Amino acid sequence: MEARMPRMTGKVAFITGGGGGIGRATAERFSEEGAKVVIAEIAAEPGEAAAGSARAKAGDSGGDAHFIHCDVTDRASVEAAVAETVAKFGKLNVLHNNAGGSTPEDGPVTEAPEEEFWRVMKLDLYGTFLCSKIAIPEIIRDGGGSVINMSSNAALMGFTSHCYSAAKGGISALTRSMAVDYAPQRIRVNAIAPSVTLTERVKKLMQDKPGIEKLGQQHLLGLGLPIHIADMAVYLASDESAITTGQVLSVDSGVTIY
Ligand SMILES: NC(=O)c1ccc[n+]([C@@H]2O[C@H](COP(=O)([O-])OP(=O)(O)OC[C@H]3O[C@@H](n4cnc5c(N)ncnc54)[C@H](O)[C@@H]3O)[C@@H](O)[C@H]2O)c1
Repeated sequence: MEARMPRMTGKVAFITGGGGGIGRATAERFSEEGAKVVIAEIAAEPGEAAAGSARAKAGDSGGDAHFIHCDVTDRASVEAAVAETVAKFGKLNVLHNNAGGSTPEDGPVTEAPEEEFWRVMKLDLYGTFLCSKIAIPEIIRDGGGSVINMSSNAALMGFTSHCYSAAKGGISALTRSMAVDYAPQRIRVNAIAPSVTLTERVKKLMQDKPGIEKLGQQHLLGLGLPIHIADMAVYLASDESAITTGQVLSVDSGVTIY
């Protein structure tokens, strides 16, 4: 049988929040597909562990993985992490703005604390803005590439975590605007909108929020796993998505059409 060609040979990818859940699964898939991956993560221990596991998945694909400490809400930290990426791997082609997520503190506007609103705006929306601002010039320098943002089904339907819905709605809007303005530089900008995806964080959240469990029952093909989202990220990061841009792609077990 003919050997399968890796789908991301020669690409350098920067995955924020790559130490856990979806980011870690994506780092493993990218490395398996021949990419050099930077796990840009605020927590050192899971960051190192994810880099080790992604390296192990590389096999003979040419892939590699490396942990770099990065706080996506801090400009100096992001600048240093992007500079270290280029110093280590020579260039940057793919930015996966993955760091983010909701907490049990969120709720309807009349109940959600203002601190939670600013927390999620800072981490999810500003983090996406800031990492894009700093990484895109490097992607342009190498002739173009792909930016993958993380939206959510929470931006597409009624969802009682209002702060999170607003942040993810902002990310979907930013995705479309960025896609238009960076197309001349051959950069595709898309977002993935997962629904409930069973990462460790979400498993805990489901215990605390019965509403989320009900949403889980509405998934036509069962709840999502990190690998399902990682497989979509491989498509968006590889040349297979050459003319896919400005899209918010639902990977949600049909929950938004049910
Ligand atoms: N899991 C789901 O059900 C689901 C559904 C829809 C969208 N999403 C989105 O997918 C993305 C990943 O979610 P997940 O469930 O894998 O999350 P997770 O909590 O499992 O992993 C997030 C990672 O980001 C890191 N991180 C946190 N703050 C950071 C910072 N300031 N700088 C850098 N790294 C930081 C964490 O340490 C962690 O390793 C998020 O944007 C989330 O909103 C997840």
